[in-house]
Amino acid sequence: MGSFVTLKDVCKSYRMGEVTIHAANGISFEIEKGEFAVIVGPSGAGKTTVLNMLGGMDTCDSGQIVVDGEDIAAYSRKQLIAYRRYDIGFVFQFYNLVQNLTARENVELAAQICKNPMYAEEMLREVGLGERMQNFPAQLSGGEQQRVAIARALAKRPKLLLCDEPTGALDYNTGKTILKLLQDTCRSLGMTVIVITHNLAIAPMADRIIKVKNSRVEEIKRNENPVPVERIEW
Ligand SMILES: Nc1ncnc2c1ncn2[C@@H]1O[C@H](COP(=O)(O)OP(=O)(O)OP(=O)(O)O)[C@@H](O)[C@H]1O
Ligand SMILES: [Mg+2]
Repeated sequence: MGSFVTLKDVCKSYRMGEVTIHAANGISFEIEKGEFAVIVGPSGAGKTTVLNMLGGMDTCDSGQIVVDGEDIAAYSRKQLIAYRRYDIGFVFQFYNLVQNLTARENVELAAQICKNPMYAEEMLREVGLGERMQNFPAQLSGGEQQRVAIARALAKRPKLLLCDEPTGALDYNTGKTILKLLQDTCRSLGMTVIVITHNLAIAPMADRIIKVKNSRVEEIKRNENPVPVERIEW
C-alpha cells in the first residue's frame, strides 16, 4: 500500500535580517492512512514548521509534500485555501476557540465552511461534552476546551488531523484523557492523526514515531504494538 503522507527532502528557511534559519533541512518521512504518528523532538527542532507546511499554513522552499496523492508543495495559494478548509483539521496547544461563541457555535462555525460536515451536537457528544454545548470557552476547563477544539477539527471530516502539542497546556491526567481521545478517534474513524510532542514517553502509544532534531529527521520507528495511553506512565 502506498503512503498517505510523504515528505521528501523538504527544506524551509527563514531569513531574519543577516541570518538564515534552516527550520527544515531535508525532511523526509512517510505516514500510512489511519496511522497515529508522533513527531517528537526538542524545542526549536522544527516540529511546528513541518506541521504547518503539512497543513498548508506555511509553504516549503523545496521538496515534495504529498497528501493523499496530491503534491501540496506545488499548490497555488487558492488551492492551499481549499486544502486547509476541507482536508485539514488542526488542534493547537492553546485551543484557539472563539471566546464569544458557545462550544456548539464554535463547532458549527467550522462545520459551516465545509461540504459534508458532521453535526456539531453529535461531535460534542462524541468528545464527552453533550451537557456543555451552551457554555462559552471561559466557562470550560482547559481539557474541556481542548475537547471542543477536537470536535471542531473533526466536524470537518478532515483527511488529516494535525495536533501541535495538544496537551502542552494541560495537567498530567487531563493530558492523558486528551491523548486517549485522539488515539480512540484515530482507531474508530480510521483517521490519520499526527501529534507533535516533546515528551518521548508517549511514543509507545504511536504506530509511528518520527524523531526530529536540528531540523532533520534523526530516526523513524514503526511500532507494531502500540500501547493504549492509559497504560503509559511518565
Ligand atoms: N516564522 C518564523 N520566522 C523566523 N524563524 C522561525 C519562524 N518559525 C520558526 N522559526 C525558527 O525555526 C526553528 C524551528 O522552529 P519550530 O517552531 O518549528 O520548532 P519546534 O520544534 O516546533 O519547537 P517548540 O518545541 O519550541 O515548539 C526555530 O529556530 C525557530 O526560531
Ligand atoms: Mg512548536
